[in-house]
Amino acid sequence: MSGATRALHLAVNGKAHNLELDPHRTLLDVLRAELGLKGPKYGCGMAQCGACTVLIDGAPARACVLRVGKLAGRAVTTLEGLADPDTGALHPVQSGFIAEEGAQCGYCLNGMIMSAVALLRQDPSPSEARIRAALAHNLCRCGTHTEIVASVQRAAERLAASPDRQAASAKATTA
Ligand code: FES
Ligand code: FES
Repeated sequence: MSGATRALHLAVNGKAHNLELDPHRTLLDVLRAELGLKGPKYGCGMAQCGACTVLIDGAPARACVLRVGKLAGRAVTTLEGLADPDTGALHPVQSGFIAEEGAQCGYCLNGMIMSAVALLRQDPSPSEARIRAALAHNLCRCGTHTEIVASVQRAAERLAASPDRQAASAKATTA
C-alpha cells in the first residue's frame, strides 16, 4: 500500500531516526530499505514464519505486519542491536548459536535469536519445554531444532555466568 507521507520518529537499536514516510509501510520494509538493517528477513509476509522477528519494548513482534505509523515512542530492537555497543561483543544468544552450530540456512535464524533473547529476559533459566514453546512459532524448515534448543541452553549458561551482561542485555533491548 502506498499513500501520503508524514514525519515519523522511530527509535531503533537505541538511536532516534527522523523519517518522512508513508505510515502504512511495514516496519520490516522500513528497517531493511530505509535503515539498511538486514537482520530481520522477509519470509511469509503474513505473521506466520517468524523470520522477520524484532523486539518492540523487549517483546518479540512480527515486523512484516507492523505499520510504522503505529510505532512512535516504542523501542525497536533488531538483530543488529544485540551486540555490546561498546565492545562489539556478540550477545550470549548469538555466541551460543555459533558454539552449538544452531544455524543451517539462516532463514529462521534471526527470529530464533530474537525470540530467545526475549525468553531469557523473562526466564534466565528456562526448561527445554519452555524453550521449545517460546520458539514454536518460529519455523525452521531444515530440522535444526535440536541444535537450536542447545544453543539457547548454552546462552542461558553464559548469561548466568555473567550477570553484568544479563543486565546490559535487558537494558539494551528495552532502551
Ligand atoms: S515474514 Fe514475518 S512472520 Fe514471516
Ligand atoms: S536453520 Fe534453516 S530454516 Fe532454520
